[in-house]
Amino acid sequence: MRLKGKVAIVTGSARGLGKAMALKMAAEGAKVVVCDLNYEGCLDVKEEIEQAGGTALAVRCDVTKREEVAALVAQTMDKFSQIDILVNNAGITRDAQIIKMTDQQWDEVLDTNLKSMFICIQEVIKVMIPRNYGRIVNITSIAALEGNFGQANYSAAKAGIIGLTKTLSKELGRKGITINAVAPGFMDTEMTKTIPPHIQEQLLARIPLRRAGRPEEAAEAVVFLASDAASYITGQTLSVNGGLYV
Ligand code: NAI
Repeated sequence: MRLKGKVAIVTGSARGLGKAMALKMAAEGAKVVVCDLNYEGCLDVKEEIEQAGGTALAVRCDVTKREEVAALVAQTMDKFSQIDILVNNAGITRDAQIIKMTDQQWDEVLDTNLKSMFICIQEVIKVMIPRNYGRIVNITSIAALEGNFGQANYSAAKAGIIGLTKTLSKELGRKGITINAVAPGFMDTEMTKTIPPHIQEQLLARIPLRRAGRPEEAAEAVVFLASDAASYITGQTLSVNGGLYV
């Protein structure tokens, strides 16, 4: 068990990649805080973790709201007394070509995908720094690395995450905290089901491994970076994309 005795918060973990991360981290021995806007989904994931013999806490939290994130940290501390791992996974898309993109589409994506990380990290390091230990994993995207048609807002937010990760590796290293990013490619989740079928086919044809990634495959990279096996890795971006972008 690679995460035995650790306490992990995974944002946006009611479904998709976040759910796979929460399940895998619990299977590796971590106590997992499942948090999302979708509380019913959190409860389902908590139940699945408990049925497999793990420990979980379900919390409804909007990661764009500082007071809700502060409450999430307080609830986690009440229940588990420590926070070792933060996985910033919650994310949304609001696609449009730049000429048609609204201020609202831009702001919602930047707030949810980038500003939320600023808030979550700031609130969580308050309890990590005194223990001189922490593992933070931020979920970025292949869109940060190669751009993506119709996703100026999303690509900008995801590229921002890489800059944030590099900078905080310099600020937080001396506090015993590592911070890395995982950049998934085309993964099989609800988010990508909205991509039109002919675009999905074009994407699949470009992937050397000739298939979409499974959520568990992104989760595996997160577990590695959150584990003590990655104790000397910080400020990095690990791509999990089947070779789609190298
Ligand atoms: P998803 O849409 O299936 O799940 C995202 C979850 O985040 C949902 O449960 C949603 O309720 C939650 N969420 C959204 N806004 C929130 C907020 N303000 N506060 C709390 N929770 C919130 O998405 P998926 O595919 O699982 O993606 C997870 C992460 O991986 C996202 O950051 C996404 O950008 C990233 N990603 C996904 C890829 C894919 O192919 N699915 C590829 C590259 C990156």
